[in-house]
Amino acid sequence: MVRRQHRFKTLSSTNTIGYELAQAGAAHGTIIRAETQTAGRGRLGKVWLSPPGKGLYFSMIIRPRLEPEEFPKLAMTAGLAIAKAIERTWTKAVLLKWPNDIYLSGKKCGGVLCEASLSPTSAIGLFAVIGVGLNVLTRRTEFPEHLQNSATSIAMETDAHCDPEQLLATLIPSILAEIAVHEQDGFAPILDQWQQRDFLKGKVLSWLSHSGEVILGRSEGPDEHGRLMVRDQNNLLHEVLSGDISLAHEH
Ligand code: BTN
Repeated sequence: MVRRQHRFKTLSSTNTIGYELAQAGAAHGTIIRAETQTAGRGRLGKVWLSPPGKGLYFSMIIRPRLEPEEFPKLAMTAGLAIAKAIERTWTKAVLLKWPNDIYLSGKKCGGVLCEASLSPTSAIGLFAVIGVGLNVLTRRTEFPEHLQNSATSIAMETDAHCDPEQLLATLIPSILAEIAVHEQDGFAPILDQWQQRDFLKGKVLSWLSHSGEVILGRSEGPDEHGRLMVRDQNNLLHEVLSGDISLAHEH
């Protein structure tokens, strides 16, 4: 099936335009791609730098046959699909940092921003916009200085030819296939494969709880609801729903 693709040289954010198109009725699998974004967004209100000619920035509109409580897990489903597509293409191990970061050689090379409309009264139905940002051709010194030790790109890690266009052509069916698995078989098979690539598993990390408290604990990985489980020094198990996770030794 041919999926509609909207391509732009410059956009504010493919997620913003994707959300508007979805509200106007765009079909499952519609792609919005921009060569550069002027207001690329990451999770937690962060900026996603989107220089032209260096990365792949796109969003996919999806209308999955899933209950609303499954939607918060879709970023993990998409992350797994991206990891598997990169692994198949470059035979390179990809790790996933909860909830949505793509890691190569211990550094972040991409992320997923999933934004959903779950209004039960909306005539247009439930949908999600899965935004994907990947550093493809960026070289170390092209990252802002504060990111040079923590960010990487596919080109830096594979020394192989990488074409963002070809990568997009690989990622689209991979994401659609993994969403179909989620629809048909539930989240369990996704979670199982996700856990095999869990960057944080067993690591000591800190995060800011909803009450503003900094909690230190060891990651036990995500549970069946997609929540990260962390055991603190008093052996108490915490559920991390969202929020910024840092490795403790980075402070
Ligand atoms: C993150 O790491 O916090 C997620 C980054 C997601 C960035 C992508 S780029 C395409 C899409 N449009 C956006 O504004 N954000 C996502």
